[in-house]
Amino acid sequence: MQKNIAIPPLTEDLKGVLIDADTIARRVSELALQINSDYQGIKEPLILVGVLKGSFIFLSDLCRKLTVPHVIDFISVSSYGKASQSTGNVRLLMDTRENQAGHHVLIVEDILDSGYTLDYLKRNFTTREPKSVKTIVLLDKPERHVVPVQLDYVGFTVPDVWVVGYGLDYAETYRTLPYIAELDIEEIKRKEGK
Ligand code: IMP
Ligand code: MG
Repeated sequence: MQKNIAIPPLTEDLKGVLIDADTIARRVSELALQINSDYQGIKEPLILVGVLKGSFIFLSDLCRKLTVPHVIDFISVSSYGKASQSTGNVRLLMDTRENQAGHHVLIVEDILDSGYTLDYLKRNFTTREPKSVKTIVLLDKPERHVVPVQLDYVGFTVPDVWVVGYGLDYAETYRTLPYIAELDIEEIKRKEGK
């Protein structure tokens, strides 16, 4: 049996690893402990709403550490297109399926950047008569905030760089790296001839 799990090497488009897989795993466990304690004793299952696509790996790791009753739901929104700059114009691409009325809802996001996405989702869900709406993000990029959003759980704070891996992408690439790495935007732009 293979003992060492192969870690994909950094390509020339990546500057370096910001958060390694073990560190992510430890933090996800801590967040789950906190959630288990905060929602202890709830009657109706907690609805975890993963924001597609970036949150899918974080959500899968997190939910398997939860001991409180919960169900999984997804929503898909778009504010970026293929660019790396938020337009502030959030579009709902695919709505959730669970009825949120009377349930605690926890929005699971990969990263808080400008805040447009989470602000939109929180306001949207609040109209659906849930018991509460809270937010958890794996990463927070405070230097980029435009709209203030209250975060209930944060994995890590990252500097103002483009990060990829563990669900996060650049133009659909790098999502499945097991670590969070910094993308070399300059290198990419040079290659794209910009
Ligand atoms: P916001 O609406 O500007 O807060 O950003 C929302 C979305 O932009 C996030 O859910 C991510 O999908 C994407 N995003 C923002 N910053 C990054 C990054 O550094 N890497 C990958 N995706 C990002
Ligand atoms: Mg996202």
